[in-house]
Amino acid sequence: MNRIALAADHGGYELKEAVKQLLDERGIPYRDFGTNSNESCDYPDYAGPAARLVSGGDFERGIFCCGSAAGMVIVANKFPGVRAVACHDEWAARMSRLHNNANVLALGGRVVNLEEAKRIVTTWLETEFEGGRHARRLDKIADIEDEPQPTA
Ligand code: RB5
Repeated sequence: MNRIALAADHGGYELKEAVKQLLDERGIPYRDFGTNSNESCDYPDYAGPAARLVSGGDFERGIFCCGSAAGMVIVANKFPGVRAVACHDEWAARMSRLHNNANVLALGGRVVNLEEAKRIVTTWLETEFEGGRHARRLDKIADIEDEPQPTA
């Protein structure tokens, strides 16, 4: 596994620290894009730089944490090639890999506890993309990204 980009706001800070512990235990390299405390901050400031580097291929995957997971998903999916999914249970994590080849996992620190989050991350890391008909669908998403954007 290539490096993982980690990002969080204050709502996901503790979750991010728990994810780091898990990645350390498994010897999986990562870079922590912050935040580094429970102090209130703005999630785009952390999700943006991390998602940009997943989009550019510097990082194979990202794990982004905020209060609900929603903000992280919204920011991450602005970047071409990023497929971010909010997963609040292991089933969603498995499906996001099998069918969507999700390369960013978003977790909500106000939704799941630390033990649930570790199980979700483990499942997400260990599940491979199924390909086949699902690859065709992802190709169609890439086509949409390539469409000219409307101008004002
Ligand atoms: C912060 O209060 C909260 O809005 C943020 O962590 C996240 O849930 C946004 O989607």
